[in-house]
Amino acid sequence: MANLRITLAGLDLDNPIMLASGILDSTPGILQRMAETGAGALITKSISLKPRPGYPGPTTVEIAPGTWINAMGLPNPGLEEFLNEFPLTTLSVPVIPNLVADTPDEFAKLAAGVAAAGAKIAEINLSCPHPKAAYGGSLTAQDPEAAAAVVAATTKHLPVIAKLTPNVADIGTVAVACARAGAAAISAINTLAALDVDPELERPLLGNGFGGLSGVAIRPIGLRKVLEIVQALNHANFDTPVIGMGGISSAEDVVRYLLCGAHSVQIGTSLTGDPEHMSAITRGLAEWMDRKGYRELADFRGRILEWFS
Ligand code: SIN
Repeated sequence: MANLRITLAGLDLDNPIMLASGILDSTPGILQRMAETGAGALITKSISLKPRPGYPGPTTVEIAPGTWINAMGLPNPGLEEFLNEFPLTTLSVPVIPNLVADTPDEFAKLAAGVAAAGAKIAEINLSCPHPKAAYGGSLTAQDPEAAAAVVAATTKHLPVIAKLTPNVADIGTVAVACARAGAAAISAINTLAALDVDPELERPLLGNGFGGLSGVAIRPIGLRKVLEIVQALNHANFDTPVIGMGGISSAEDVVRYLLCGAHSVQIGTSLTGDPEHMSAITRGLAEWMDRKGYRELADFRGRILEWFS
């Protein structure tokens, strides 16, 4: 019988499949609903120190089956309201707040706030692909030193997962800089910087103009970036766990990321409109392992790396 349990930065999870930030996580009620699907952990929508209204619509559009472009503008109620409203410690699965800010100091304040409220680990969003001047610094993960500075500032308060961008030439260097600064885990990939156009209206499809691409089309990019991160961490002698994401819509996709060396995964876009899809994917992973005769996730994790050694 397959054992799906993992430990992430000291946190015991029933399985390696987490809800990604930004999908089905923006209200306490929907988080509660997602906890009932058997997810290993739930990541919240990005939280900033002050409330953010978000961008004008349209903010999310499906441009091909299973492939979406979005620019939400990081809408959230701000830290204080978030801590009043959201169940950080009372659900049956760990809730991991995702933090977004413009400077290491602001990130540190957020980290201190969620740690004081009981969070055991936070994900830091270094990688929103469509920053506005007023929301500057969102693409911190394009600069290894800037990313490391945020990791160093936040890990003083609690362990952090550094969420990286694929919109960079060498993601491995950024991952190693974050690991060296003390990141408890690396998650990748956030969405790809994108633009789509409405030919009838002769204008960008999204209210914000630029956006980020997610869903099935980006899976091969996510797999390659995760592999590059794992290779770079191995080469630099870090055993920092990697959380893979990008285009996962089936148990087979989870397996693909684990074979590339990910310890766990996050699922977002493919859950849109169907929370139960999470349970089906988790069941499917256990069935795949049973069929293959694997008892532990470690029995097949990273298998693909030997093709590139
Ligand atoms: C958004 O809220 O616009 C997306 C956030 C992200 O991609 O990090």
